[in-house]
Amino acid sequence: MKIQKVGVVGCGQMGSGIAQVCAVGGFSTLSQEISQKELEKGLARVENSLSRLVKKRLVTPEKKERAQSRLRGTLKLEEFSDCDLIIEAITENLDEKKKIFQKLESIAKTDAIFVSNTSSLCITEMISATKRGPRFLGMHFFNPVPVIPLVEVVKTRITETAVVECIVDFVTKIGKTPIVTFDRPGFIVNRLLIPYLMDAVRVLEERLGSTKELDTAMRLGCSHPMGPFTLMDYIGNDTCFYIANILYDKYQEERFAPPPLLKRIVMAGMYGRKSGKGFYDYSDPASPEPMELFDE
Ligand code: CAA
Repeated sequence: MKIQKVGVVGCGQMGSGIAQVCAVGGFSTLSQEISQKELEKGLARVENSLSRLVKKRLVTPEKKERAQSRLRGTLKLEEFSDCDLIIEAITENLDEKKKIFQKLESIAKTDAIFVSNTSSLCITEMISATKRGPRFLGMHFFNPVPVIPLVEVVKTRITETAVVECIVDFVTKIGKTPIVTFDRPGFIVNRLLIPYLMDAVRVLEERLGSTKELDTAMRLGCSHPMGPFTLMDYIGNDTCFYIANILYDKYQEERFAPPPLLKRIVMAGMYGRKSGKGFYDYSDPASPEPMELFDE
């Protein structure tokens, strides 16, 4: 089992990061989007991210150039016909993901490995859209993909052991650290992270401290790189709300339940950094100001 060519479906925040680390890791990489505009945006994100890494001296200019020569964009999934590994990184919608895998089933080589980058959906349910259960698994990357070292490798009951080993080896080759886990809602990281984030909102609702104070508490008290509200704004409050709802639905445990304040923020379109407002106002991105969240 040898991986030489990788196809990444979706060139958004996660997909572009995944394509980038595959190309930097030495793999010929094809990145697919549904429109030219989205594809250009995604490839520009890769350029920007690689330039930052060069500036920080984490990547040499030569390595950046070589990586970019290995990465190509396309609008056609049909071009994935010679890929050894296909990673899906589209939005978190099970039906859409199943449709993509169904389509890929008729395009990809019979021995190609299929992977989903889902953070919370059931991999086994996606497998049912294809005939390649033994060669299907999850690879959960973290935001920002070019910087965060972990990848959760998610095996199902029917994933072949040799395929899991091949992906563990691949993750190592792209410079990340793999952790093998099972197909359970939230895997490991979100199973632990989401209750913490939801608790932070509950503590804020109790007014135990302000957004800024609670962020400072976790940053300076526990050496977290970001406090919980900065992190939720960074991940996307809509994404956190979505994952929390899935976990609450599956486990029926209060600790996963999204608190009313988070729901109000999401309903108001305050998704965080990407929408310009969340727990903080990003009018000046270099110096975010806490939002007034309580109207009483
Ligand atoms: N490529 C892409 N983005 C980069 C980058 C690179 N090479 N280097 C930095 N960034 C991003 C940061 O995210 C941030 O975004 P802006 O473009 O809006 O400015 C900015 O660059 C900050 O960069 P700095 O160099 O000033 O910051 P830093 O290097 O000190 O650390 C950080 C930034 C890596 C994000 C750090 O704060 C951190 O580790 N935070 C925690 C992140 C975290 O927990 N991620 C996991 C989230 S959970 C998840 O993703 C899974 C899920 O399913 C929800």
